Amino acid sequence: MRVLGLESSCDETGVAIYDSERGLLADALYSQVALHADYGGVVPELASRDHVRKLLPLIREVLAKAQLQGSDLDGVAYTAGPGLAGALMVGACAGRAMAYGWGVPALAVHHMEGHLLAPMLEGNPPEFPFIALLVSGGHTQLVRVDGIGQYRMLGESLDDAAGEAFDKAAKMLNLGYPGGPQLALAAESGDVSRFTFPRPMVNRPGLDFSFSGLKTYTMNTVAECRGDGVLAETDRNDIAAAFQEAVVDTLTIKCLRALKQEQLKSLVIAGGVSANRALRTRLEQRLATISARVFYARQAFCTDNGAMIAYAGCQRLLAGQSEGLAVQVRPRWPM
Ligand code: KG4
Ligand code: ZN
Repeated sequence: MRVLGLESSCDETGVAIYDSERGLLADALYSQVALHADYGGVVPELASRDHVRKLLPLIREVLAKAQLQGSDLDGVAYTAGPGLAGALMVGACAGRAMAYGWGVPALAVHHMEGHLLAPMLEGNPPEFPFIALLVSGGHTQLVRVDGIGQYRMLGESLDDAAGEAFDKAAKMLNLGYPGGPQLALAAESGDVSRFTFPRPMVNRPGLDFSFSGLKTYTMNTVAECRGDGVLAETDRNDIAAAFQEAVVDTLTIKCLRALKQEQLKSLVIAGGVSANRALRTRLEQRLATISARVFYARQAFCTDNGAMIAYAGCQRLLAGQSEGLAVQVRPRWPM
């Protein structure tokens, strides 16, 4: 089975072709980061228009890379939600129309299912069942995964997502957009022991998260250090290091708790924040002490991409699922 995957839920246009026998055949990604940088965040209308501009050229590019034609495909998968309504519509309309034209099934994929399955694209993938920590700009969730489509939510953020917290803290530190990777970079030069930030909700039972308090704590620390002047670079780096340490520690504590609760030894981390090197290293160290393992995708497949949608669509097709003719998107969609 060969499936074309289209991702257009936010500010990346991703296209890929996955083959159930041969693996990933081709992928291409266009990031709109430069387009939104001046605004300090994603502007939905600009995002939709840029997806329109980029999607067809990228589809042509992956077909050429894989030396395939549309008629060689067995299905077209697209991200149907959650995400920005207009941006989702671009991928959904293109995906649905091409599937109709080529006479193959269309597959509406949940964006977070795509993220969750992205580590399956790597060599030596995890076996079911496992715990998945989904950490992106819009979600922070702990999920028990028993198979494709068999997901049980164990806990989630009651307010901001981890990636959103990274982005907001980065903004307070005058780091560029998108903030997560820039904050991580600043943290590398910071003194992690200078400030101790709170670890929200770790002393309460359960697997839910909360990151909004950490945001306020960051704001207050920035104000204290800055006084009436500008924030010094050392202060900025030290605050970044303390913030990252608090998020990494909190996520690690909850992951260990989830593995213990479900008596499992495999953890998958997925979504943009799973690209964070401090998080990966900490989880590797801590899981080794309980003979457990952490799995993650290569950096490019942690953030939004077409490969994860092609893979998830292919699994759904193999399981005999596909969509009716209507073009539907679900900007809000529980997994
Ligand atoms: O999965 P993703 O590309 O888009 C969503 O589905 O939201 O995740 C984007 C999020 C952003 O909040 C970004 O700042 C964060 O992932 N992110 C990171 C890193 N790389 C991306 N956060 C911390 N450290 C990173 N290295
Ligand atoms: Zn995403």
